[in-house]
Amino acid sequence: MSTDPLVVFTPSGKRGHFPVGTPILTAARQLGVDLDSVCGGRGICSKCQITPSYGEFPKHGVTVKEDALSEWNKVEQRYDDKRGLTPGRRLGCQATVQGDIVIDVPPESQVHRQVVRKRAEARDITLNPTVRLCYVEVQEPDMHDPSGDLERLRDALRDQWQVEGFEIALPIISKMQPVLRKGGWTVTCLLHEAPGRPTRLLDLYPGLHENSIYGLAVDLGSTTIAAHLCDLATGEVVASSGLMNPQIRFGEDLMSRVSYAMMNAGGDQEMTRAVRDGMNELFRNIVADAQIEAHQVVDAVFVCNPVMHHLFLGIDPFELGQAPFALATANSMNLAASELDLDSIHPSAQVYLLPCIAGHVGADAAAVALSEAPDKSENLVLVVDVGTNAEILLGNTDKVLACSSPTGPAFEGAQISSGQRAAPGAIERVQIDPVTKEPRFRVIGSNLWSDEDGFAEAIATTGITGICGSGIIEMVAEMRMAGIVDGPGLIGNPEQTGTERCFLDGRTYSYKVWDGSAEGGPVITVTNRDIREIQMAKAALYSGARLLMDKFGVDTVDRIVLAGAFGAHISPKHAMVLGMIPDCELDKVTSAGNAAGTGARIALLNSKARTEIEDTVRAIHKIETAIEPRFQEHFVNASAIPNSAEPFPILATEVTLPEVNFNTGAEASASSGGRRRRRRG
Ligand code: FES
Repeated sequence: MSTDPLVVFTPSGKRGHFPVGTPILTAARQLGVDLDSVCGGRGICSKCQITPSYGEFPKHGVTVKEDALSEWNKVEQRYDDKRGLTPGRRLGCQATVQGDIVIDVPPESQVHRQVVRKRAEARDITLNPTVRLCYVEVQEPDMHDPSGDLERLRDALRDQWQVEGFEIALPIISKMQPVLRKGGWTVTCLLHEAPGRPTRLLDLYPGLHENSIYGLAVDLGSTTIAAHLCDLATGEVVASSGLMNPQIRFGEDLMSRVSYAMMNAGGDQEMTRAVRDGMNELFRNIVADAQIEAHQVVDAVFVCNPVMHHLFLGIDPFELGQAPFALATANSMNLAASELDLDSIHPSAQVYLLPCIAGHVGADAAAVALSEAPDKSENLVLVVDVGTNAEILLGNTDKVLACSSPTGPAFEGAQISSGQRAAPGAIERVQIDPVTKEPRFRVIGSNLWSDEDGFAEAIATTGITGICGSGIIEMVAEMRMAGIVDGPGLIGNPEQTGTERCFLDGRTYSYKVWDGSAEGGPVITVTNRDIREIQMAKAALYSGARLLMDKFGVDTVDRIVLAGAFGAHISPKHAMVLGMIPDCELDKVTSAGNAAGTGARIALLNSKARTEIEDTVRAIHKIETAIEPRFQEHFVNASAIPNSAEPFPILATEVTLPEVNFNTGAEASASSGGRRRRRRG
């Protein structure tokens, strides 16, 4: 057994014997303990701070004496004088082992620290960015040993950081010589080290460079672009911003943009320019918000659906508009920001696009898979990203299946007579009394229900303007629970429903929710056509999920995750009453918020996650709903509320749905559920 002193690191629990005089940083490196360093142990970066503990440690079987570490030295004193060191802390590169010692590595000294995610079921993110700063001392040139500055810089990085070669762009070579001399032959290198890619020297700074570096995680959606600016040293989101996708002027949905490119020569390039310009504007805003310099942003990760992916890359999406929906490339992409005309971040910044899963299941779905990790779930999880195209994943540790389903824009309030985007004034929550059939509701911008005191004052500025997507889901489900709508989706007449709120509106009945006409406001109603739109959207979503369940050979799932900004607002109970999602324990239905954006953030902060998702995507089985005959069968059944063929036994323990049938014959064909398939978009 070694007689050398024992060094125990916490929280990792790693331990080993080291000769007297070994710096703690060296011991940490040899044991694989996560202890940061930018200056390579020269006592100037302070990243290696540690907290020694003294006394009895029966758990570790050691007694730590007061002199277990070398004495506080001049370097530490200098640092303390200049910057201040928290009491009890030492610099790991300066303190050396003198006896048995227990060393705590505080979170801020860990390179691969955990970035905690708020949701209990979500995995934390391990910080391991692709970009890091390395301080080196470079040999000065010597007449007797002629060599280039770049070659000596290479040698320094190899000897001091074990970096075996790197690529470097001409503009960085051009600035290298003055930087080396300005720094007195010490420089900090900004290195990009992505898995499977050659190391790249992105920039050089004279001396020790301590400015923070940042990365952007971008969710490029067809309607909005959302970006999070993250500090690459802490993983913290320091600013977030969003922008309407400027491509909207070429078409609201994806297929109209593909059509625009088909019908107009150069249309694809116009849309590429529009989205790149928008991206630059968004980045400028976010950098200004965070009060940092554009060149501090050195890495970016993008997730997007396949059409956005192609248009952003400058690839004509023509092939995505027709079977067999071939992608130009499904692989992940590593690019320089300049190749995408991104001129509002560091000119050498690198860009990573997650892989696409299939022609209709994009990098955004891959990002959802990275965030929600169905492949690591012991129980069977259904992940639904609700949008104009629902992207659906079903899986567990055995396998993961994926498909997309064309739900259309009804869930975003479009094609609904009183529908609107989620904005102040929109009805977002609804309850209908099953006896009186009277509605009460809440609008975005106020927490009060419409029958509570103070409601009128609370909504005085916004008014009541319409119904948003989550509101319409609750509305239709509440109408079904109150017996205003029957299973096939017909609104009953006043006699059948017992309320004058149902009124003849053309050939069918509508339900009046709110009449604001006396104050010059709108009359908000739900028409039978609105019900049909919701039936089609939810049937498409359910059929996609059910098809994946067929392929998996199951009739139930253990849990359901609703992803997407919209998913966060959906009430699980109402979604299930509607038959939008399969029958499941209500408390097993959770919301993941913007899981695609979170996936982008994971890929930004953890380079290993990039390899992981590339492997996962390769293993995901893609199901093309368009060629699956059972999809149509499921669609027909799922057009009823909740479903004409499948029981919802778990839901039945929570909710009793009235057995009403308002079909008087005239509506038979309209309510049969045999609806046209929605085109994708
Ligand atoms: S490693 Fe830089 S100060 Fe210790």
